[in-house]
Amino acid sequence: MTIAFIDLAAQQQRIKPRIDAAIAKVLAHGGYVMGPEVREFEAQLAAHAGVAHALGCANGTEALALPLMAWGVGPGDAVFCPSFTFAATGEVIPWSGASPVFIDILPDTYNIDPAKLEAAIAAIKAEGKLVPKVIIAVDLFGQPANYPAISAIAQRHGLKLIADSAQGFGCTLNGQHPGAWADVVTTSFFPAKPLGCYGDGGAVLTQDDWLAERIDSLRVHGKATASDIAGRTFEHDPKYLNMRVGLNSRLDTLQAAILIEKLKIFPDEIEKRAVIADRYAKGLEGAVSQIPTVIAGGTSVWAQYTIEHPNRDGLAAHLKTQGVPSAAYYPMPMHRQDCYAIYPQPGGLPVSEAKAETVLALPMHPYLDEATQDRIIAAVRGFNG
Ligand SMILES: Cc1ncc(COP(=O)(O)O)c(C=O)c1O
Repeated sequence: MTIAFIDLAAQQQRIKPRIDAAIAKVLAHGGYVMGPEVREFEAQLAAHAGVAHALGCANGTEALALPLMAWGVGPGDAVFCPSFTFAATGEVIPWSGASPVFIDILPDTYNIDPAKLEAAIAAIKAEGKLVPKVIIAVDLFGQPANYPAISAIAQRHGLKLIADSAQGFGCTLNGQHPGAWADVVTTSFFPAKPLGCYGDGGAVLTQDDWLAERIDSLRVHGKATASDIAGRTFEHDPKYLNMRVGLNSRLDTLQAAILIEKLKIFPDEIEKRAVIADRYAKGLEGAVSQIPTVIAGGTSVWAQYTIEHPNRDGLAAHLKTQGVPSAAYYPMPMHRQDCYAIYPQPGGLPVSEAKAETVLALPMHPYLDEATQDRIIAAVRGFNG
């Protein structure tokens, strides 16, 4: 029998009556866009992440674009980000007219290397063609980037810091969420994410009142906010007073209603994932060239359980014959993709390039039972390639 890579059906089974009731409630009140569940979910999400504001949006990609728009990032600006990530992280930067600057990762955690980041900022400044503006750190595979080091760099150089926590939402470092360091935390509710909905969705989280108001405007076509309206007369719905060029990027009410139910079981699901990761680590030690390392003081939400093997493709093919699905995240770093190869990559990215050849993610979800875990471990151990 083939094992599920991510078993969303098992999760749905657990909470189906509550999900059905939540959907029925939205269908009954009919507030499909920005209905009451959106605000309710946003308040719960902000509390969960320990920040003042959470704003739902259409997906985790636009969640990254919105703060860049709010800050007015544009042509001539440099935005530093890892290359070993999902394309969305770097993709939003050229949208704004700015240039991504690709930074290498640490070989153990796969997250942005602070020393290389600092060197790259110095190199871009010395070259004088681009103005450093923003750092986007990624919580790859579910664990926090080194925020104390990265935020110190951001402060030293006067840069904004975004935590792309699409994979890591819920992770902590020294007991705190990334919002303790980053100006903005973004996440994705893509169904396969640790906190996923039943379609597309995303959120922007921040402590910054000004930024929250600005993003609330931008996500609804630049509608007038309370501060925009103050002192002027506009006797119509403020959404028809367009103060800035925005977009349509809202979280659907139905998805918010589903997420309210999923958020209730999220802490328990994170614990379950951690138990599975521990068992995988014990079972796989010595059988592969690398098992995951979590940053000291950090907790991962284990969006992926990524191992390394010098014959990664051979191992993946062997696992397939055993009914074990696996996935190579990511087989080609962004700076090697034709459309991104034109952007700066000071100092090169040898670690990203090497990891792209060896990483392999194994099935990981909270409902993976011990017998199935053991089958997966045995299948990996049985590979002689
Ligand atoms: C690291 C990272 N950033 C951003 C995104 C974009 O999220 P979405 O697919 O919701 O646009 C993803 C999701 O796939 C991701 O993994």
